[in-house]
Amino acid sequence: MIGTGYVGLVSGACFSDFGHDVVCVDKDARKIELLHQNVMPIYEPGLAELVASNVQAGRLSFTTDLAEGVKGADAVFIAVGTPSRRGDGHADLSYVFAAAEEIVAALDGPAVIVTKSTVPVGTGDEVERIVERIAPDKGITVVSNPEFLREGAAIEDFKHPDRVVVGSEDERASEVMRGVYRPLSLNQSAPVMFTGRRTAELIKYAANAFLAVKITFINEIADLCEQVGADVQEVSRGIGMDNRIGRKFLNAGPGYGGSCFPKDTLALLKTADDAESPLRIVEATVQVNESRKRAMGRKVIKAMGGEVRGKTVAILGLTFKPNTDDMRDAPSIAIIQTLQDAGANVKAFDPEGVEQAKLVIKNVEFAASPYAAAEGADALVIVTEWDAFRALDLNRMKSLLNQPLLIDLRNIYPAAEAERAGLQLVGVGKPRQDSNG
Ligand code: UGA
Repeated sequence: MIGTGYVGLVSGACFSDFGHDVVCVDKDARKIELLHQNVMPIYEPGLAELVASNVQAGRLSFTTDLAEGVKGADAVFIAVGTPSRRGDGHADLSYVFAAAEEIVAALDGPAVIVTKSTVPVGTGDEVERIVERIAPDKGITVVSNPEFLREGAAIEDFKHPDRVVVGSEDERASEVMRGVYRPLSLNQSAPVMFTGRRTAELIKYAANAFLAVKITFINEIADLCEQVGADVQEVSRGIGMDNRIGRKFLNAGPGYGGSCFPKDTLALLKTADDAESPLRIVEATVQVNESRKRAMGRKVIKAMGGEVRGKTVAILGLTFKPNTDDMRDAPSIAIIQTLQDAGANVKAFDPEGVEQAKLVIKNVEFAASPYAAAEGADALVIVTEWDAFRALDLNRMKSLLNQPLLIDLRNIYPAAEAERAGLQLVGVGKPRQDSNG
């Protein structure tokens, strides 16, 4: 497994838990050193335990030496980062190709190179050209095996996926991949779907783009709900019970963030552009989501009466979603920026994300608890729906706040509960109290 980021480390740990022998390789010596001490470089529930037990069982090891790591491997997974290339939104594939070259040079016999990183259509072909250039006679084949796990639920998603997609143009390679995923089909939890390599590469982008569209659709419906006095949570339920639509990913909120949707939608648009086959729905989604984040900052300002200079806002939740320390493209960044631009002071609490947050947001006072954040603040804003925020003592919050205002951008509090505590509640896509009759 080349790369010990989210996908690489979780996949490596889970494959070893299936009983395979796994070596995880990373160039970053500090990361490997930490992993040797069973310190995880990322926050992911259950990961440290899974890594420890498989290291102990002798199935999982870590090294910085790629040549050593791939020796004798049946399959070598490339799970390195594919960030957005600065300037044009294209996925930066330099890490993928560099890894591929090293792998091909180091392999000592037939093996399958598997791209697990999210890579644009045609990347497998490029990797194959590297094989042909460096070592055409070693019997190396190239397949695509995109990963669909979510941060925060990564182990569960890996072990119980809705499907596994393998893009292969070679029967022997497909056989190796069947072997790799056999433990999953044994517990009958996942159909493994074999398809062409380019198709597999596109499935990954199409899936992420579709989910981004779904979220953005419900976010715009939420805005409409506010104007016409409807409730977006009930609209979601009402449409989601239709199996053709499905309930998931219909939670309105401050916009999607993270390391995947923002980057992958942009990369897909580039692919579409290059192919002269526009994806207008995805284009609109990217634009709507981008402007939504600052719009949420303005929503807070409006709820606070339109003037926030010198006022204090308490923010609960900074990471782009719960159960991760990941701050990449988190809506909290733009929301806080908007508030600060308008002259507000910001206090914030996050259960796991503060260290990462400090790298991307400035002039924020970090509090030690949700209550410490609320103390003396003129509004309390829930940005990320951590479980720890689902059962706050609202009466205590009311007594700590300077103004009894709760702005719940994830709709986790019912109006009645806030009302009982004497808090004014502003949600997303909720009928205004006055339009309720
Ligand atoms: C996403 C996909 O869900 C995974 O299937 C995929 O493997 C991964 O990208 C990837 O390409 O590596 P992830 O970015 O970890 O996973 O997080 P999600 O749970 O999908 O959430 C993404 C964003 O959408 C978050 O900001 C979340 O708050 C937001 N969201 C999600 C909503 O606003 N509403 C929803 O109903 C669902």
